[in-house]
Amino acid sequence: MSVAVDASTQAKEQTTKDLSVQAESKISFAPGVEPTKEELDRVCTQWNQHLGEILFSESAIQQKVKEMAAQISKDYAAILKPDEVLVCVPVLKGAFVFAADLLRHLTIPYEIDFLNVSSYGAGTETSGEVTLLSPLRTPLKGRHVLLIEDLMDTGLTLAWADKYLKAQEPASLRLGVLLHKHGRARVNMTLDYFGFHCPNKFVIGYGMDYAQQYRCLPYVCVLKPSGYAKKAE
Ligand code: IMP
Ligand code: MG
Repeated sequence: MSVAVDASTQAKEQTTKDLSVQAESKISFAPGVEPTKEELDRVCTQWNQHLGEILFSESAIQQKVKEMAAQISKDYAAILKPDEVLVCVPVLKGAFVFAADLLRHLTIPYEIDFLNVSSYGAGTETSGEVTLLSPLRTPLKGRHVLLIEDLMDTGLTLAWADKYLKAQEPASLRLGVLLHKHGRARVNMTLDYFGFHCPNKFVIGYGMDYAQQYRCLPYVCVLKPSGYAKKAE
């Protein structure tokens, strides 16, 4: 599934209270579910007291990741020549969990290099400025490249990464993103492979952090207000 995220369309839709980002479809979000005792018991007590509703369960994520991997494998099987290998570029740090699961389901040849950028600092709002923390080591000229990101919020990180990678003249560049946060895009992007629309809430888990914590929760949930107040011990 691919989706075009158009910032200007979104703005218009927001003012008319139309929540869709795709002109042709309305988006409704299933209510979140409180974590079960079993789910809380898998997590340290310093964290589990601050975990709010689960928006995307472990099983829903795993199912979606398999579907995305199947589509990616099918598409690139038709694109890659016999001697070509896909270059997968997860954006650190957030995409490392998603990428680890996604890539293990691929049935095409690939290699991995990481794009290490920072745009958030320790808060819950993007600084709007993307900093390259370390450059890619793989030459991309003439290669097929798949950029992998956990979540598109304003889209500034993806737009920056897209420009950075395209400057290296890859044969093709596609974007694979697990979550798209609704109503937040500031730039127009086409997500070639896309998992779920996410409500406009700050989320943690499955790679995503608050102040560098909570990244390895197996599901995506919201952080309770107590988590912000105490910044998780
Ligand atoms: P953008 O540049 O505003 O699209 O922000 C995208 C980056 O910020 C992603 O790489 C995410 O890892 C991170 N991010 C955005 N929203 C959240 C969130 O709700 N929780 C945790 N990280 C987030
Ligand atoms: Mg990230």
